[in-house]
Amino acid sequence: MTGNEIREMFLKFFEGKGHRRVRSSSLVPHGDPTLLFTNAGMNQFKDVFLGLEKRDYNRATTAQKCVRAGGKHNDLENVGFTKRHHTFFEMMGNFSFGDYFKKDAIAFAWELVTSPQWFGIAKDKLYTTVFNGEGGVPRDEEAHAQWLAQGVPAERVFELGAKDNFWAMGDTGPCGPCSEIHYDMGPAASDEGHTDCKFPCDCGRYVEIWNLVFMQFNRDAGGALTPLPKPCVDTGMGLERVAAVLQDTISNFDTDLFQPLIRRATELAGAKQTPDASLRIIDRNKYGMVTAGVQPSLRIIADHSRAATFLISDGVIPSNEGRGYVLRKIIRRALLHVRFLNGPMPFLSLMAEAVRSEMESAYPELRESASRVDRILDEEERRFARTIDVGLKRLHEEVKLIQKDIRRATPFPGEKAFQLYDTFGLPIDFMRDVLRDEGFVLDEGSLDRAMQEQRTRARASWKGGAKEAANPAYAKIAETFKTEPDFYFSTSAKDCCIEAIVTKSG
Ligand code: SER
Repeated sequence: MTGNEIREMFLKFFEGKGHRRVRSSSLVPHGDPTLLFTNAGMNQFKDVFLGLEKRDYNRATTAQKCVRAGGKHNDLENVGFTKRHHTFFEMMGNFSFGDYFKKDAIAFAWELVTSPQWFGIAKDKLYTTVFNGEGGVPRDEEAHAQWLAQGVPAERVFELGAKDNFWAMGDTGPCGPCSEIHYDMGPAASDEGHTDCKFPCDCGRYVEIWNLVFMQFNRDAGGALTPLPKPCVDTGMGLERVAAVLQDTISNFDTDLFQPLIRRATELAGAKQTPDASLRIIDRNKYGMVTAGVQPSLRIIADHSRAATFLISDGVIPSNEGRGYVLRKIIRRALLHVRFLNGPMPFLSLMAEAVRSEMESAYPELRESASRVDRILDEEERRFARTIDVGLKRLHEEVKLIQKDIRRATPFPGEKAFQLYDTFGLPIDFMRDVLRDEGFVLDEGSLDRAMQEQRTRARASWKGGAKEAANPAYAKIAETFKTEPDFYFSTSAKDCCIEAIVTKSG
């Protein structure tokens, strides 16, 4: 089954069980200041769970666009270096608003996953988990009994604590105990080389494919749990993960959801893709930097192209604050890896076209926003080109100096990284990637100290003697406008506007 077929089958299954097929909501959560981006299928139903909003259906099913970067669930730094982390992903779910509860939710899930008419996944590859009780919420006896009623052997039903089996959308809002289905990918999937570890080892072999949340409470800012007006169901199945299972591959990046994008990036960059994902080609790009295997770079470009295309399509614009800042980080991280591969410019708008051709049948809004998305991506690419050229060359020089000292095991000094960040605007997480490929670890302690010192200096400059000398208007401006250091190096951007002019007199 292709990714598109899996998505369709999921939605069809639940339509057959009386659920309304509801379109994915935007990645920009409307009217919810607690959320940076839509990060779960239930976001658009938050007020329905809380009893604040009524719909003309009490069962729904969706395939929801989600981004987990920069907010409570932040996966950005891991993307590219694992088989399963993404910034953008699709979450398929079924929802009950005060209608059915644990019994039906578990029966539906088990049928869809195991029935040969549907996904037909072998039962002996599956494990389930239930909440074992913590923090005043009792053990989930009902869920336990329902898995057994489905014929899951008792030794495959595990009881875990709140970390694994209590789900909350954010620090406040609807939440409740959950129950998960995990798939055994086999020893080859272990990131730690385990050959016979047992569930629930978290080495990568056992993969959570579906989370069934039994929404029972609303958590307030003080952490207190109040029961919801009616218990509800919110489930989430990661399309990319289940595609890996059904397409019999251990990495999400080897599924048909990513392969066409990886092929396109390979083609554009002229990079050689190795069939063995673990093989690392050591090569040098035009900056002389070691590109430790093109695989992580290709995965990062594929993943981030999806995120950037969808985010811009949903109205986010790269900027130095909030959502726009996270989008800028995603785009720039992708561009850094385009550079590693010596890719041409423009690159990301061509990737965006590849994203559209794979996904516009499920998300028609992608076609409508195409020219806007491409224009914004091209502009951001040009803007970053200057920063990255200067900053990367300098980083490379620093690395060479240390390598001369034959101290490769030495951490890369945090003060140096800070200097590059401060002077050239080279983002810290980009440096981490570059240094990782060079065999260095960034010294986070000294970096933190340098950052802290800068904050202290900045504060002192407004508090101490400098305050007398500086025009107070600068302090006012600094309260409102934040800029990244690299802002000062690229003032040719077309979408800038003058917000304030400081004159001698104030
Ligand atoms: N909200 C739950 C999750 O995101 C289930 O959909 O995992």
